[in-house]
Amino acid sequence: MNADLVVVGAGFFGLTVAERCAADLGVRVLVLERRNHIGGNAYSEPEPATGIEVHRYGSHLFHTSNERVWAYANRFTSFTPYQHRVFTVHKGQVYPMPINLGTICAFFGRVFTPDEARALVAAQAGEDAGGTPRNLEEKAVALVGRPLYEAFVRGYTAKQWQTDPAELPPETIGRLPVRYTFDSRYFDDTHQGLPADGYTAWLERMADHPGIEVRLGVDFFDLRPAVVGAVPVVYTGPLDRYFGYTEGDLGWRTLDFETRVLPTGDFQGTPVMNYADEDLPWTRVHEFRHLHPERTWYPGDATVITKEYSRFAGRDDEPYYPINTPEDRARLARYRELARREPGVLFGGRLGTYRYLDMHMAIAAALTLVDNHLRPRFTP
Ligand code: FDA
Repeated sequence: MNADLVVVGAGFFGLTVAERCAADLGVRVLVLERRNHIGGNAYSEPEPATGIEVHRYGSHLFHTSNERVWAYANRFTSFTPYQHRVFTVHKGQVYPMPINLGTICAFFGRVFTPDEARALVAAQAGEDAGGTPRNLEEKAVALVGRPLYEAFVRGYTAKQWQTDPAELPPETIGRLPVRYTFDSRYFDDTHQGLPADGYTAWLERMADHPGIEVRLGVDFFDLRPAVVGAVPVVYTGPLDRYFGYTEGDLGWRTLDFETRVLPTGDFQGTPVMNYADEDLPWTRVHEFRHLHPERTWYPGDATVITKEYSRFAGRDDEPYYPINTPEDRARLARYRELARREPGVLFGGRLGTYRYLDMHMAIAAALTLVDNHLRPRFTP
């Protein structure tokens, strides 16, 4: 093997490590990727009939307030000025999400000033407040009040988790943001946008260095005996799989995607529409053409939509969102201890650390791993 470092996984974490080690430290890096494409879950590709860029693993919106990550990303791509906005369908009406002054005015059917809306939500949340919440429903009601919870949280959460929110632990949700302005942007980060010529072009530029070799369609576990111990390894695959599931399976939710080309230039007028009610089994519909309004060459008579369904993941499903039950956390602590003692292997990325990471967080964590562990290792 002509490599000084093996990186397992060609997602944002793995490619950031590979790029920095090759370009900055002069290290020869071999990247092993199980799938037949680079990019991990951020991978996108043109739908063949229409040319519309489809995000194969769900819509990916880039946003960050981390200046180091923003400067790093801009080395490989320019960004459009796209700012993400989401709407939700509830009982035949459409409302902006996350809950903001526009949602509150539309839902309660009159004009509210910010102070009036704040007072209304506080009063409705106060009605049910009392003691420590025992489940997600009690926590959500204590945060936004019962009417907004019933409309916008209950059904959507039940579909996401295949579980009644009254049966889910309160820590399933952190906070439920309510904005008392008409600002309906989904993210409030300093920098937001989409890579001008797509995610895959961005990721290909990261991998395009003479010191990097990417092998697609290769499962690390088939080469493990030849690799571990021979050169340092950065592993971004699932943590429990690395250790043969000895401490038990870490729980994940997965998504099923149903993609269709429709004979219309516009199906829903927006990139992402949530479906809050339980009578429809999907949680969201993505319409990818709206992510790039500047691409005037997209066809006027066809569009691509993807319906998204959520469920618990089995071992053979793609792991998307960590479930993080108390049992998961206990298993994770045991796996972390094993990882700490595993010689020559560094664990990173969303699968290798069992943490939901946005893209900017994966890039930031990879830059830190290079600074703290690989630069000292490879600098004479
Ligand atoms: P990632 O999963 O991308 O890459 C890991 C790679 O390792 C995969 O390609 C996998 O095939 C490979 N691998 C695993 N085991 C292997 C083995 N044994 N051998 C070889 N290869 C192996 N973020 C954001 O900023 N904005 C957004 O809008 C979204 N949207 C979004 C939607 C959905 C549905 C999900 C699930 C996630 C997002 N994200 C997001 C998060 C984003 O996808 C995430 O930050 C990056 O994928 C993290 O990159 P990693 O490299 O850590 O993992």
